[in-house]
Formats: sequence, C-alpha cells, structure tokens
Amino acid sequence: PFSWYHKMQQENPVVFDGDYIHLWGEKGVWHVFRYEDVKRVYGDYENFSSEVTPRMDNNPIANSITNLDPPRHRSLRKIISKAFVPSVISNLEPWIRQLCTQLWEKHLESEKIEFIRDFAIPVPVRVICQLLGVPDQNHEQISHWAKAFTSNPQTEEEVGYFFQAQQEQMEYFTALIEQRYKEPKDDLISSLIAAEVDGERLSTEDLISFAMILLFAGNETTTNLLGNAIYTLTEHPEMQEHLFENREDIPQAIDEVLRYRSPVQSLFRKAKHDIELGGKRIKQGDYVSGWIGAANHDPSIFEQPGTFDIYRDNQAKLSFGHGIHYCIGAPLAILEAKIALDIILERATQLQLEPNTSVDLYPSSIMYGFQKLPLVFQKRT
Ligand code: HEM
Repeated sequence: PFSWYHKMQQENPVVFDGDYIHLWGEKGVWHVFRYEDVKRVYGDYENFSSEVTPRMDNNPIANSITNLDPPRHRSLRKIISKAFVPSVISNLEPWIRQLCTQLWEKHLESEKIEFIRDFAIPVPVRVICQLLGVPDQNHEQISHWAKAFTSNPQTEEEVGYFFQAQQEQMEYFTALIEQRYKEPKDDLISSLIAAEVDGERLSTEDLISFAMILLFAGNETTTNLLGNAIYTLTEHPEMQEHLFENREDIPQAIDEVLRYRSPVQSLFRKAKHDIELGGKRIKQGDYVSGWIGAANHDPSIFEQPGTFDIYRDNQAKLSFGHGIHYCIGAPLAILEAKIALDIILERATQLQLEPNTSVDLYPSSIMYGFQKLPLVFQKRT
C-alpha cells in the first residue's frame, strides 16, 4: 500500500469516500493520510470520538474501553492500569520463553515451518490466556474461538461465526470471573476484580468486556507483528546474522518492523463537532479513518520511509496509537516479539520463504499481516 499512501499524501491528504460501508451498515468515511493530521485524529478526543461502534446491549466489544470517550474511558483505564502493571508482564517472560522454545523446536528436525499457523497464531493467544488466568486445558478452546473472532469477517457465514464465537466466549468468561470472585488466584482477572480507584471497581460486565477486548486487540495484532518481523528478515538475510551476533539490536529491529509494516494500518473515529482538517470540512457524525500505516511512511517525518533501517529514530511512529487510547499491551507485544526472535535466531540460520511459493497479505484495510508464511531454514549447529 505504500506507494498509494504517498500518492494520497501528496494529492488527497484528507478525502471523503462515500461508498465505504461499515459493519453495522452505515456508509461513508473520511480518509486521513498525513502524519500530523493522523496524530491529531488520535490525540484530539474532544473532536474525534472513539464511540464508533453503535451501542448494542450485551455486546462486550461495543461496550469496551477502546470504544469509549472520557470521562468513562478515564476512570475505566485508571482502574485497569492498576492491575495491568509492568510486573504482570515481566513475570510472564519465562513462560513465554518456554512456549516459544517448544513451538520452534518441534520444527527443528524438518527445518521447515508454516510460521503463521504454527507459531505466530498460537503464541499471542496462549500468552493472553496465561495472563488472564485461563486454565491450561481451556487454551485450545479459546484459540478455536479466537480464530473466528477476527477483525475482518467477510462472508455471511464468517459474520455468523464471529457473533457465535463472541457469545460463547462471553459465557466462558462470565463463568471464569464468577469463580475468581469466589476464590481469587494469582492472575490478571483476580487483580482486576480487586483493583479500586476512588472507591470504584470494575463491574462484572466491565470485566467480561476487558477480557474479550484483550483477545480481540492483542491477538491478531501480535500475530501480524511476529509474521511481519519474520517476513522482513527473509527480505534482509544479512540482518539475520547481524541480529544473531548483536542480540541487543533486536528491540530496535522490532521497532522498525512496527513502523515499516505496522500491524494496524488504520482505525476509525467519529467527528463530535464540525471540524476543519487538511483544508476540508468534516461534519459532525462523519466517520474518520486515520491511516497509521501512511503516517508511519510520511517522508516529512521519516526520511526515506521505504528503507528498512533499524538504526533510524522511529520513536514518532503511531503503530500503537497516540493519546489516551495508547495501546495498553504494547510492552507485552514487544516482549513476545523479542523473545521469539531471540529463540529463533539462536536455533536457525538462512530463514527463507519456501522456494516457489507466493505469499499473500490478509485482504483487510485495517490490518497488515500475511495469511501464510511457509519457511525453510537450517538448524544452527
Ligand atoms: C489499543 C495496536 C497488542 C491491548 C491499541 C491501539 C492500537 C493498538 C493502535 C489504539 C486504539 C485506538 O486508539 O482506538 C496494537 C498492536 C499490537 C497490540 C500493533 C501488537 C503488535 C496488544 C496486546 C494487548 C493489547 C498484546 C493486550 C494483551 C490493547 C487495549 C487497547 C489497545 C486494551 C485499548 C486501550 C484504550 O482504549 O485505552 N492497540 N496493540 N494490544 N490495545 Fe493494543
């Protein structure tokens, strides 16, 4: 999409698309492409509302933290942040390391792997289960639902399956939360139940919504980060040896993958008032799509944006959003990617796409990720 982004940044930086149809049937969206404008769309919550998905009773996604504005967003996020502290994530490190080692070593002898199916999908979903406190024996069931529970249901059948998976997950978490109320354990759900700010706690509905939004927001995104990182390494074979010998550069390489192939390419907001942006007049109630993927390739911020350069300063990237909704799971996603690359590069060299295969991106304008990555490699001896 990168050449399209550049063309739009130059010719149509803020443009209305009347044909776009939202999942809930409404039509029309403004596309925003330049870095400063995209940053404003995410940063200016007083004009650009996150309350995008229509409220539906009993719909945990529509009622979740990502879909709320202040003041409700502020109090919810404060309580959640009290439980979702850095030690919760760093305590997971040995477990994630063990999981990644197990998944990779299964393929050492054959020296091939379908990386998306056999690694990039199972790692994030199992990590979120572990984080929440889902017992081991239920991880497979959750993974099964997570497959249906993607950001991009296309056919009528997929949409039906999406809502069914959502319903079943909701019932599962309702029961799990009930159990933790009765008998707290050392897991995130129990900490979220106990978290209190100014006398306020999360309701059972808030807890269900949050557990489910973690699976929704933290899964496919991290799968894409892992896949995009490995794909980028197959494009730059010299980088594999460099990172093997200089492990301390792995975090910078991940940061640059996040900029260069941002797992989330765009998100929606809704104009709260009439607003002027990039010389265009956006009307109250209009939908606005802020193109994170384009902002991360804006040449006025990132010199030669089409060059993958792990030493560039890319701190301005918008891959995890910007402002009050900035991704809560960013440190966890980065930790997973760091451990994964560490383990893979320690055990394999000459990672490349299986010869004579072509790889495709998911047909989504919101996410950037590969459907399959069949890899071959050599076991490092
Ligand atoms: C929010 C990206 C991984 C949980 C966001 C937002 C972005 C994002 C762009 C902002 C949404 C908005 O402004 O509307 C990503 C990417 C990831 C990733 C690229 C992986 C590479 C995770 C993980 C978790 C997570 C692993 C949790 C385990 C959340 C939550 C929010 C969020 C709860 C909502 C925060 C709020 O509304 O205040 N993420 N995310 N994300 N993310 Fe992530």
